[in-house]
Amino acid sequence: MKTQVAIIGGGPSGLLLAQLLHRHNIESVVLERKTKDYVLSRIRAGVLEQGLVKLMEEAGCADRLHSEGYEHDGTLLSYGDEMFRIDFTEHTGTPVIVYGQTEVTRDLYAAREKAGGLIEFNVDDVVIHGADSDAPYVTYRVDGEDRRLDCDFIAGCDGFHGVSRQTIPLDVRREYEKVYPFGWLGILSETPPVNHELIYANSPRGFALCSMRNENLSRYYIQCSLSDKPEDWTDEAFWQELKRRIPADQAARLVTGPSIEKSIAPLRSFVTEPMRWGRLFLCGDAAHIVPPTGAKGLNTAASDVHYLYHGLTDYYARGSTEGIDRYSEKALARVWKAERFSWWFSSMMHRYPDQSEFDLKMQVADLEFLRSNKAAQKAMAENYVGLPY
Ligand code: FAD
Ligand code: DHB
Repeated sequence: MKTQVAIIGGGPSGLLLAQLLHRHNIESVVLERKTKDYVLSRIRAGVLEQGLVKLMEEAGCADRLHSEGYEHDGTLLSYGDEMFRIDFTEHTGTPVIVYGQTEVTRDLYAAREKAGGLIEFNVDDVVIHGADSDAPYVTYRVDGEDRRLDCDFIAGCDGFHGVSRQTIPLDVRREYEKVYPFGWLGILSETPPVNHELIYANSPRGFALCSMRNENLSRYYIQCSLSDKPEDWTDEAFWQELKRRIPADQAARLVTGPSIEKSIAPLRSFVTEPMRWGRLFLCGDAAHIVPPTGAKGLNTAASDVHYLYHGLTDYYARGSTEGIDRYSEKALARVWKAERFSWWFSSMMHRYPDQSEFDLKMQVADLEFLRSNKAAQKAMAENYVGLPY
């Protein structure tokens, strides 16, 4: 087979890129290791920046997002018995949209199917060849059959555990990493959200987050030990622990119920540089990971897709290589700012196993400065709603 852009990974980055390129008459083939149902069963992000909403509009996939997504004008932060609000619209003029990554992915799959876009599921043994030559290609196996896909460019959208990043030689690639000494245990439950806006809580027992998907679907997270397994936590134990970590008035009106999904995610900050090697471009989690506090992962994947899709459309429409040549530099400039914000917000909101009394005082000082200082609130709001691109 031959195509213009071979896209490895059928998560949100790969699908969004495929759909945006299609709108500019650029052909692609998406290679996905899992089934569509498996990809749609992963419960992940819930908060979308305007930049991603705009890309979904450009992709022709934003109708449901507009009708079913929730505009959030602010968020709540609690510590001890204190709680305060950061007003996004007051400080930036922009809300965020609460709409699940599962739904974003579902809408993108529907659009690819409608457009007749080719997606190969259940592919194994994906290998990238000649990324630093003028004739790159990808080999893979599907249904026991070996296949070859020739292309002009390869987009590595295959997440943190994919093959694309590993294809870049070690003498070219530089990786930066920070692993946090805790994870997030998340549950989804068919109960009304405890509050109409999200609550990020720093409690002496650890971090908690109250989020939502819709009026009868709530998403809650609690900081947990890295050795915990989801099956160690009964629903009852989860609800009890969550109630202890959020302000008493919120805990009193929390509606609990059976979980319909329960999973643990480790927390990591990670960046690989450069994000381009020859004709291979890394996008999203394949190139970088943020700890989830602040909801930057999917949104940062979207800004990569924005830079790459503009670079590729300029190349095909005008023969200009400027956009693709500057892709890595432009994407990384924004990635590092999202890394800084996620690291700062995580550091302020979690309890660390080796935290000293001094460290605790620093967290409280950081939170009190944020609570009382409009300039600090504005900086927080600008980062939360998403830096421009
Ligand atoms: P992925 O979603 O990982 O997709 C990669 C795809 O590639 C997968 O479908 C995988 O099966 C496929 N693949 C992997 N290897 C191969 C291979 N060798 N060959 C072919 N295919 C392959 N982000 C936010 O912005 N906001 C949030 O609120 C938020 N909350 C989160 C909460 C949790 C609990 C977690 C875990 C993450 C959260 N994130 C959030 C992060 C967000 O989910 C990710 O950043 C996002 O999924 C990245 O998309 P991606 O397409 O780059 O990678
Ligand atoms: C969600 C996840 C996040 O990491 C976050 O900061 C906010 C919301 C969520 O899954 O709803």
